[in-house]
Amino acid sequence: MTNENKNHSKDEQPDRRQFIKGASCVIGAAIGAVPMAAGVRVVLSPLVDKEAAEGGAMIRLGDLGDLETGVPMKFAIVADNSDKWTRYKDVPVGAVYLVKQKEDAKEPVVAFNTVCPHLGCFVDYRKEKQDFFCPCHDSNFALNGKLKNGVSPRGMDTLTVELRNTTEVWVKFQRFKANSKNKIAIS
Ligand code: FES
Repeated sequence: MTNENKNHSKDEQPDRRQFIKGASCVIGAAIGAVPMAAGVRVVLSPLVDKEAAEGGAMIRLGDLGDLETGVPMKFAIVADNSDKWTRYKDVPVGAVYLVKQKEDAKEPVVAFNTVCPHLGCFVDYRKEKQDFFCPCHDSNFALNGKLKNGVSPRGMDTLTVELRNTTEVWVKFQRFKANSKNKIAIS
């Protein structure tokens, strides 16, 4: 290994650790949130290959007709995974909130990664307060993703959305660096 490569992998380690911590948090939250998510429809997407789960492709999450204007709907992202010994099917790898916008809006649908940009906890939609809330360190966000209060260094991370065949909602699922003012994609 050259020095450059060594330095590179050293530099990557904190990011990687942070990612693994964040991913565990997301996965735990995605599983744990389902029973508490009364009133929030959680759809396990039938899709997703590994490339898509790692941010390399657009994923079809649903149809415009599934969404209610101004009401965030959560979609779990699942993927098949494997290690040396075992192949796992439908492993939760994250989740996305889709928010359908009013008819005159520039974008028909906005998508957010459900992970808090502070340290990677899972952000809840609070219907009664009409906001998103991270219970780990009490950050809350407006429904347009902007930070209202708390320690998060930025607002919620938006994801690229495409409407295909008029009504199909496709999203590029990506993860972003935690605890940074800037939105930096890490997958
Ligand atoms: S992880 Fe969300 S506020 Fe700290």
